[in-house]
Amino acid sequence: MKIVIANDHAAVTMKKEVCEYLTGLGHDVINIGIDREERCNYPDYAEEAAGYITSGKADLGVLICGTGAGMAIAANKVKGIRAVVCSEPVTARLAREHNHANIITFGARVIGYEMATAILDAYLNAEELGGRHEERVNLITQIEERG
Ligand code: RB5
Repeated sequence: MKIVIANDHAAVTMKKEVCEYLTGLGHDVINIGIDREERCNYPDYAEEAAGYITSGKADLGVLICGTGAGMAIAANKVKGIRAVVCSEPVTARLAREHNHANIITFGARVIGYEMATAILDAYLNAEELGGRHEERVNLITQIEERG
């Protein structure tokens, strides 16, 4: 799977660990985040990563900042993006199954490496469910289209 990854200065080490983990699983990782601990602005990275998804250059995205909140808020401003902050695996699995989340975010100041990999496993091994879940996601899209 093609996975775009981005981070800000709060998540340089975790981003590196996550890239290595996903590459080890055989995924095609596109790292567009910052690799130095130099202050930067997470919305810029969130928007760029979202563009990889909406243009089809990546299948899914993983965005990491201090809490995951800023990245999710920013990414969700891009049409077609459904980004969910995850601090544990149940939310990650259900975000994919029920909400068709095409981006997950988490916080390097909130969770550690073990939890991050558990979240990634839950998210990547899940599948988008149809039926009522798809209908609800379509309702979300309609809200987006109404502005
Ligand atoms: C950066 O200090 C911090 O605000 C950012 O990483 C993130 O947590 C925002 O949501």
